[in-house]
Amino acid sequence: MNSSAHRVPHRELAPGYSVAAMINGGWQLSHGHRQQPLDRRESMDGLLALVDAGFTTFDCGDIYLGVEEFLGELLARYGARESAAPPLQIHTKFVPDLDSLAHLKRTDVQRIVDRSLKRLGVERLDLVQFMWWDYSIHRYVEVATWLDDLRRDGKIHLLGVTNFDVPRLREIVDAGVAPVVNQVQYSMLDHRPERGMSAFCQEHGIQLLAYGALAGGFLSPSYLGLPEPGESLANRSLVKYHLIIHEFGGWNEFQKLLVALDRIATRHGVSVSNVAVRWVLDQPRVAAAIIGAGDARHLEENLRTFNLSLDEADLELLAPFSNRGPEGDV
Ligand SMILES: NC(=O)c1ccc[n+]([C@@H]2O[C@H](COP(=O)([O-])OP(=O)(O)OC[C@H]3O[C@@H](n4cnc5c(N)ncnc54)[C@H](OP(=O)(O)O)[C@@H]3O)[C@@H](O)[C@H]2O)c1
Repeated sequence: MNSSAHRVPHRELAPGYSVAAMINGGWQLSHGHRQQPLDRRESMDGLLALVDAGFTTFDCGDIYLGVEEFLGELLARYGARESAAPPLQIHTKFVPDLDSLAHLKRTDVQRIVDRSLKRLGVERLDLVQFMWWDYSIHRYVEVATWLDDLRRDGKIHLLGVTNFDVPRLREIVDAGVAPVVNQVQYSMLDHRPERGMSAFCQEHGIQLLAYGALAGGFLSPSYLGLPEPGESLANRSLVKYHLIIHEFGGWNEFQKLLVALDRIATRHGVSVSNVAVRWVLDQPRVAAAIIGAGDARHLEENLRTFNLSLDEADLELLAPFSNRGPEGDV
């Protein structure tokens, strides 16, 4: 095994299946996110550098344009390179179109899963996270059982869900499907998983994979002391997380949080982002944080997350910011 893999701790999602505690998020590689086209060569080199440092797990989705194919290329490149390398884990999502939910058939689900297998160039998908756009179309339990059948057939190793709330996840579990993870938004700005989801997951042996830990980049030194940005945000993620900042209490409250994170970061000799991600990783049931990765620019910085431990004084500084942000369940 590549010795650098030990720099990133791994967490077990199921017997014999572990993932990096920081997962490389693939949305930032997609045509949907970027304003500029991806520099494929630079990105591929960056992803391989991440893997070499121990960030061996990737998250993508069937709706992330071009990303399953790109990670398929990464798998091929990596596979051809060294025989004794640690395995990579590629997680995808099954996200049927909103328009298709009412009439989706079992054969459609098979076709979409086959397409992911083909794009990634694998015989079995490591983890498929199921998402349903509209709970008022009450077919998600039926569709989850079809995906579970594909798991039993060997096309899927592990089944998870994403953005499911407690009542709907309970319906799925009651139907005999056992997702290993729920991928949810969880950050210092968004505490929704604490209102029932973490407890439900504890009861049912489900783990959380947290996205949004950096709020698209807002939870980083770059925004400390800056005035609120206007309309011209650089990408769709920032537009989305800007709305979360509003729900958190607005730009001034957000700046107070950044100041507190910065004080903690300075005490420990790490970055604001390190503290924000460490906090998420320390929350109950969180197995890993999914951090957007288009390249390896933040690699060395992010490794510092794993040497950081938040003490009582740190948590006291963060206490005024707990349980804020969007209301309700995930
Ligand atoms: N299930 C879902 O519905 C869902 C929704 C959203 C995302 N996701 C998943 O979560 C992943 C992460 O997306 P996100 O929206 O949560 O973004 P994020 O990880 O909160 O933010 C990523 C952005 O933060 C900036 N950044 C600042 N400091 C950084 C650091 N130390 N390390 C890495 N990036 C840093 C980077 O922009 P700069 O490089 O410009 O600094 C990067 O593009 C996605 O790729 C996707 O896989 C899932």
